[in-house]
Amino acid sequence: MRTKRALRAASKCVLLGSMTGLMVAALFAMPGFALEGTLVGPDGAFVVGARVTAETGDPARGTTVFSDDRGRFAFPPLPAGRFEVRVRRIGWRDLRVETTVPGAPLSLSLEPERDPAALAEQLPANRWFALFLDEIDDPAHREQFVRQCTYCHQQGNEATRIPREDWQWEKILGLMARMGGGLTAEVRSQVPDWFRAAYDPAHAIPRLTEGMGTPAFAPAPEEEVRRAVIDEWVLGGRASMQHDLMVHPSGRVYSVDMMQDELFQLDPATGETRRFPIPDGGLPLGGVFARAGSPLTPNANAHVGPHSLQTAPDGSIWVTLALGNQLGRFDPKSEQWSIHPMPEGFYPHTLRIDDAGRIWFTIAASNHVGRFDPANDRFEIIRLPAASWGQSLALRLLPAMLWLSRRVEIDSDLAAEGAAFAPIPYGIDIAPDGDIWFSQLNLHKIGRIDPESLEVELIDTPFTAPRRLRFDSEGRLWIPGFSSSVISRFDPESRAFETWDLPIEPAGSDTPYALHVDRRTDTVWICGTNSDTLMRFEPKSERFLVYPLPTRVTYTREIDFDAEGRVWTSNSNAPTWQVERGQPRVIRLDPRSADAPDASLAAGP
Ligand code: HEC
Repeated sequence: MRTKRALRAASKCVLLGSMTGLMVAALFAMPGFALEGTLVGPDGAFVVGARVTAETGDPARGTTVFSDDRGRFAFPPLPAGRFEVRVRRIGWRDLRVETTVPGAPLSLSLEPERDPAALAEQLPANRWFALFLDEIDDPAHREQFVRQCTYCHQQGNEATRIPREDWQWEKILGLMARMGGGLTAEVRSQVPDWFRAAYDPAHAIPRLTEGMGTPAFAPAPEEEVRRAVIDEWVLGGRASMQHDLMVHPSGRVYSVDMMQDELFQLDPATGETRRFPIPDGGLPLGGVFARAGSPLTPNANAHVGPHSLQTAPDGSIWVTLALGNQLGRFDPKSEQWSIHPMPEGFYPHTLRIDDAGRIWFTIAASNHVGRFDPANDRFEIIRLPAASWGQSLALRLLPAMLWLSRRVEIDSDLAAEGAAFAPIPYGIDIAPDGDIWFSQLNLHKIGRIDPESLEVELIDTPFTAPRRLRFDSEGRLWIPGFSSSVISRFDPESRAFETWDLPIEPAGSDTPYALHVDRRTDTVWICGTNSDTLMRFEPKSERFLVYPLPTRVTYTREIDFDAEGRVWTSNSNAPTWQVERGQPRVIRLDPRSADAPDASLAAGP
């Protein structure tokens, strides 16, 4: 059995420079020890498919496995020490026990959750959000709300369900609009009633718990899913937001803290973390948007707002600095930054790097795509078509508006309406043939840029809100529909789209922010952003698998893969305080597929 073999494996010893590093390395350099056990219900029946999490350390590192069809669970080798073990399965009460490793096998029993209100609390945000969506009759209003109100945090999680008076909603919606979550006046005026009707416990709880206690209510994850091992590392604090992350060829993982202007480095082999502050270049809090309703929480310390990051062919790391209107380059060897201010445009967003080392990036607020060539230090800023002549003019006036907003109050209702329909160039990727493809989120379009002539072509998507898209190994473009709860495959040759509904119930309640294709197998991994899941799609069999993640309110925005085919993402719900236990985490999912060639090796610590 693969699990047993993994248990016998020992973790690797890695040399490190710093003191904390040495301490952590000592912890993980020792041979690993087994932690295993069994789970039963009150009648002695096995509990199948429960998430069993063992957590230790400060900042915490947690590992999660699933119980099998005989209620057994077994962790990969763990370091010696004290662990908190939490067992979680919808329909059962969370169980927490303290244990030491090495130690005797655990024999645990779970209590069914019989209180409907407590059971409803266990459900992921999307289950509640479906009730909210049911309240909205007009499909265009529904689409607008999903697109504008779920891109920083989940909707339907506990914090968003608190009952409020009209005046409180007025305040909240005003704050959201200033941060970029603008709605048209017509939609905005109906929002308080929708919230009150949807989340009134008297009718929400019976609907959400219909069929409780029956096997169909919350079925166990599939056998293939139950093989997975999920690791979580706490990075940063309550005021952080780990926006994007990436795996570096060195095996280290980097993530950017958009609210605290830091680059985090995690060495998964040792657990060592380091943080590198990003130079603020003298910019005020809020960067170039300092006055114009900057998208900041009160506890933010963001002057440049790092957003997206990628590795260049030379191993350096490039970061878009969304609030600073800059690109940053970090050299992992010298640990030095160089900063490159853009000549025009606002809010550099997602970036990808071509084989020649040129950085291509969307510029979200001003409707551009940028290209930066480090070889000659030159930017090329490409203006994209807008929805109308009027919008195009408004976008051209953006610099003047920002200048003006420092001096006079701009009508915030007008700004909110504008935000709901601004084009917002979003995801970007480079095709195997070198063409650049991107999405315009709010215009429901994708587009192509010829990398030499810089000519632009736009194509309507047959679904709404295309977000972070990626190519597979054969040059087909995979696109998540954020407000439409779908993924789609676009063939640049035939120009045909093929679209699949996500397997999340109720239909339409998830908001897939990003996907990524592991080009070694062309497996597609998708962010279940509103359902605390990662999804896996096998294009050959057209089969989806849904992996439930351990932490409630896990809001994911980017996916990357390591050399062993493990899947990385981060929990970047903003605000972080809405997340269970209020801490941002970096997440690694090891599918340990039966058919993966190196499955027995992929189970390391
Ligand atoms: C640009 C990011 C962003 C967008 C878009 C956004 N929110 Fe928020 N939301 C936040 C942040 C940040 C907080 C926490 C504010 C705080 O703690 O002061 C929050 C908090 C909330 C809360 C909890 C309020 C409280 O303090 O208890 C609700 C409810 C909410 N948002 C609803 C919405 C709705 C409705 C929309 C769409 C109109 C929306 N949000 C769009 C960032 C956003």
